[in-house]
Amino acid sequence: MVNEITAIKLNSNVKLQMGTFHVAVWGCQMNVYDGDRIRDLMSASGYVEQAEPKGADVIILVTCAVRAKAEDKVFNQLGAWRHQGIINDNTVIALGGCVGSELAHKIIEIDPKIAIVFGPRTAHRLPAMVAQYRATHESVVDVNAEALEKFDALPEQGRRGPSAFVTIMEGCSNKCTYCIVPHTRGEEESRPEQDIIDEVITHVANGVKEIHLLGQNVNSYRGLAPDGSISNFSSLLYEIAAIEGVERLRFTTSNPMEFTDDIIQAIADLPIIADAIHIPVQSGSDRILKLMHRNYTADSYRQLVAKLRKARPNIFISTDIIVGFPGETDEDFAQTMQLVDDVKFDASFSFIYSKRPGTPAAEYEDDVPVAHKKENLYALQEKLENYATMYSQSLLGTTQRVLVEGISRKSEHELKARTSNNRIVVFEGSRELVGQMVDIKVVQVMSHTMKGELLDKGITLS
Ligand code: 5AD
Ligand code: SF4
Repeated sequence: MVNEITAIKLNSNVKLQMGTFHVAVWGCQMNVYDGDRIRDLMSASGYVEQAEPKGADVIILVTCAVRAKAEDKVFNQLGAWRHQGIINDNTVIALGGCVGSELAHKIIEIDPKIAIVFGPRTAHRLPAMVAQYRATHESVVDVNAEALEKFDALPEQGRRGPSAFVTIMEGCSNKCTYCIVPHTRGEEESRPEQDIIDEVITHVANGVKEIHLLGQNVNSYRGLAPDGSISNFSSLLYEIAAIEGVERLRFTTSNPMEFTDDIIQAIADLPIIADAIHIPVQSGSDRILKLMHRNYTADSYRQLVAKLRKARPNIFISTDIIVGFPGETDEDFAQTMQLVDDVKFDASFSFIYSKRPGTPAAEYEDDVPVAHKKENLYALQEKLENYATMYSQSLLGTTQRVLVEGISRKSEHELKARTSNNRIVVFEGSRELVGQMVDIKVVQVMSHTMKGELLDKGITLS
């Protein structure tokens, strides 16, 4: 039998249960944010985090449902952990995130050993769910809540590295025909501006230098402002840029349809906005864009990129592309290849279309053989890779202001840092520089990283 919890607040009479927990996250940056907040929450509720899953009393899986492959990953991972003895029948397994809300009760049918199913909106109820499961030994499925309830219920942000994600809205109301997100995260709702500002201030007080704003569709942010009016995304950008201590600002994801001139103006006005913008185009064919319900054309996308480059000549534009949408012809695909040549993306994520149950496109006839889709995907990825390399090489010999994110994995004398245009640079330096912004010169460009030399005089090397 499955129990539902409908309205348990974090600070209700949940008894603290000592024990260990491990969080594993798949999927997008919004899931990374949710995973971090779950860590804060479980720690505040008396649990002790462990970095490895082996032996943890509670294992929390934050999953992605955007493609079937992403969804399969979590079940494959659980199977492997059981086989390796990493989890056993006493481990309390909580499966959440987008697969949680997509499949809900069906998860217990697939794997009756899963104790808890939660969704992106109910992560804040996890300690209550664990307590209930431990008391009853009956599965708990709880995936429905108001969009913003979790933000009010979660404890204050814990300490992060020098860069922190801040979710500014939950859900998506765009209804792209291929996408499961409106089912898993629900209708779009924006957090009040002051809540976001307070979260940023907390991060800055904890040493964070770079804020990365998150939402399925940040450009359509419409949050309550302190004076009772509705603030839009460009106003939010100006507000956050004005917070002392914020040195770099990023945001993801932007829908081309809502990339309005006021946002482009904010990018022109605010140098702390990073030189890298992610704008998923999905296809270069107007016919396919229409079937996807994207509400823009390939040409309007080209014009948007031209405006952005005029506002910020050095901006790097990255994108997402879906190959093999139902009915995609060779002509449609050729138009996507042409768009890539016209725009010259700096970095991209490209995927074969994955049929998602319950989405409108799942009903479309799909007569393109998978082998042909794969062929097209490889051709596209080769082209995208060539442009990515071209951009990296253009940085050779330049000076870049980088945020030092940590020690390099290869050598403890080397630091790992990120440029404004989102490239990783490794350079020799002392560990006191972690968390600082410094100037480096790019001296070597490899396929996925770059090597640099520290330029700031007076900083001693270890
Ligand atoms: N199949 C393939 N790719 C998808 N994406 C979203 N839904 C699907 C799907 N059904 C891709 C889009 C989106 C990115 C996050 O995932 O390109 O921008
Ligand atoms: Fe995956 Fe989308 Fe959910 Fe992010 S919001 S985890 S991309 S399904």
